[in-house]
Amino acid sequence: MNIITLPNYEEISLTCANHIAGHIRASPDSLMCFAAGDTTLGVFKELIKLQMEDRVDLSSVYYIGLDEWVDLGYEDVGSCKQVMFDSFYFPANIPAHRISVFDGKNTDYGEQVQRALDFISDHGGISLTVLGIGMNGHIGFNEPGVDASFSAGVVTLDNVTRTVGKKYFHQPYLIEFGITIGIKSLVEAKEVVLIANGARKAKIIHKALCGNKNNSIPASHLSNHPALTVYLDTDAASQL
Ligand code: F6R
Repeated sequence: MNIITLPNYEEISLTCANHIAGHIRASPDSLMCFAAGDTTLGVFKELIKLQMEDRVDLSSVYYIGLDEWVDLGYEDVGSCKQVMFDSFYFPANIPAHRISVFDGKNTDYGEQVQRALDFISDHGGISLTVLGIGMNGHIGFNEPGVDASFSAGVVTLDNVTRTVGKKYFHQPYLIEFGITIGIKSLVEAKEVVLIANGARKAKIIHKALCGNKNNSIPASHLSNHPALTVYLDTDAASQL
């Protein structure tokens, strides 16, 4: 694992965006899987800037959405779909046929899961996944207790995820379930980037990176991935 500690969020976002752009230039046509949430927003801004400077073509690759809150769709502020389209896919001009995302309002979850798994295998597996980490160690909606063999599906959300998740929404949604790409598919990615910033993430970063792999800290399953890069600011790295 390569841990890169930088002074602040802006530096993480810029360095990480350059890393991703390098991967895209080296592997056009490959499949990306990016987390929504607050952590990756800075990376998206920097990637879009790189594209405006003609330093990367973000529409040369494909994108599989990582996860979604069951019951929420694009029209719900804070849904993963709304965040990803408004902060990345639309401003980056990614053609619709290059994107596959979950729709939390479509109750045919079995079909959605199969479509996501087919999209992944049709594009040769996930080439690069860029992940944030939850306060409970989740990645995507792979919640504490997840099994390493889980490839994608609907999950019951952990209480911490439900409580912390309120920060994204303008309304008091009562969300019990999520739909997510599973830990198995993420660990199978050719390359994994994990990003964390802020002192509040220091303890869970320590648990995820310094302990043994265990299902109670889903991100710990990434720790011995052969191509894992972790971008941290000094606060998030403070307990390593
Ligand atoms: C979002 C997602 C989540 C977040 C994680 C960190 O699509 O998959 O796992 O990456 O909860 O969230 P933030 O970045 O808001 O701290």
